[in-house]
Amino acid sequence: MLIQENISLKPYNTFGIEAIGRYFAEIQTIDELQEILTSPVYQAMDKLVLGGGSNVLFTRNFEGLVLKINLPGINTLREDDEHVWVKAGAGVNWHDLVMHCIGHNYAGIENLSLIWGTVGAAPMQNIGAYGVEIKDVFEELEAVRLSDGALHTFRHADCHFGYRESIFKHDLKGQYIIVSVTLRLNKKPTFHTSYGAIQVTLREMGVEHLTIQAISEAVCRIRTSKLPDPHQIGNAGSFFKNPEISQADFERLKSQYPNVPSYPAPDGKVKVPAGWLIEQAGWKGKRVGNTGVHAQQALVLVNHGQATGDEIKRLSEQVQASVAEKFGVKLQAEVNLV
Ligand code: EPU
Repeated sequence: MLIQENISLKPYNTFGIEAIGRYFAEIQTIDELQEILTSPVYQAMDKLVLGGGSNVLFTRNFEGLVLKINLPGINTLREDDEHVWVKAGAGVNWHDLVMHCIGHNYAGIENLSLIWGTVGAAPMQNIGAYGVEIKDVFEELEAVRLSDGALHTFRHADCHFGYRESIFKHDLKGQYIIVSVTLRLNKKPTFHTSYGAIQVTLREMGVEHLTIQAISEAVCRIRTSKLPDPHQIGNAGSFFKNPEISQADFERLKSQYPNVPSYPAPDGKVKVPAGWLIEQAGWKGKRVGNTGVHAQQALVLVNHGQATGDEIKRLSEQVQASVAEKFGVKLQAEVNLV
């Protein structure tokens, strides 16, 4: 296996931030991964796992070993009258998997069209959009333990999924590398169109008979109109999570800002769109040096060209501070800072 040294990570992160990886290996098989994890040279070294690099902000060079996970393959494992189980390698591009499933009429992830990143990263933060999360169709995943290369299977309950959360961001943070994900998809679709923008877009498209293809196309249209294409302008999608606040805090906020949008959240909490808070705090479309807040979606921070990770981080802190000052709400980054 080729281990490269002093590699620019700029092509491997959608923010387009320059950072150097001291050692860098592209992983094609589970055997290769286990071999490198158990090799005496690399075992003790810090490791950074990269999928599509669409949820990471580099603020420094990485002195350890970068593992770029390219594990391929999409396979149908089994099916019954209602379901089909599809297993994909962690390195498969997420949207390619969505397109594969739609092409075979396997329903369940059409609302998750056009999310950047890889299959392996998807359960890590329980990706979600337009009323669906990967946890809704998740069956199991396989992951390799960093400490000894052992391969383990995690079922749904083991993953502790929540809003943009899983056990791999908490108790097992930095301990496992996801190598495959199996989804249980539906042969008879249940359409998720409660999200207002989907209904509006389907109407604009003149769709009369709902299909998973039509929903996917509607989602792609909405996403391309709101979210900047990282090939043109560096970004990592939503930079912050939508905050979940207590009912009492929400009532206080609403008495001051009657138009504040909200959604119910677990444990009696209320979810408030961070994009709204950031826009109301005056940041939408603002540019600060090489960085900025996207003009179509205030939840997205962008690299206008030559930004460093530190500049983006500073902008995120300024946004956090002004939202905290104006609304008393603390925004939490969704993006992982390295
Ligand atoms: N809003 C504003 N101004 C903005 C952006 C949003 O006022 O600039 C308000 C509007 O009231 C809007 C509401 O926020 O109705 C919700 O906005 P949007 O539908 O764009 O969704 P979001 O809550 O900002 C979340 C996800 C997105 C996902 C969409 C659709 C998070 C952190 N983000 O964004 O996920 O695509 O919902 O389901 O939960 C991502 O994680 O990278 C991502 C793009």
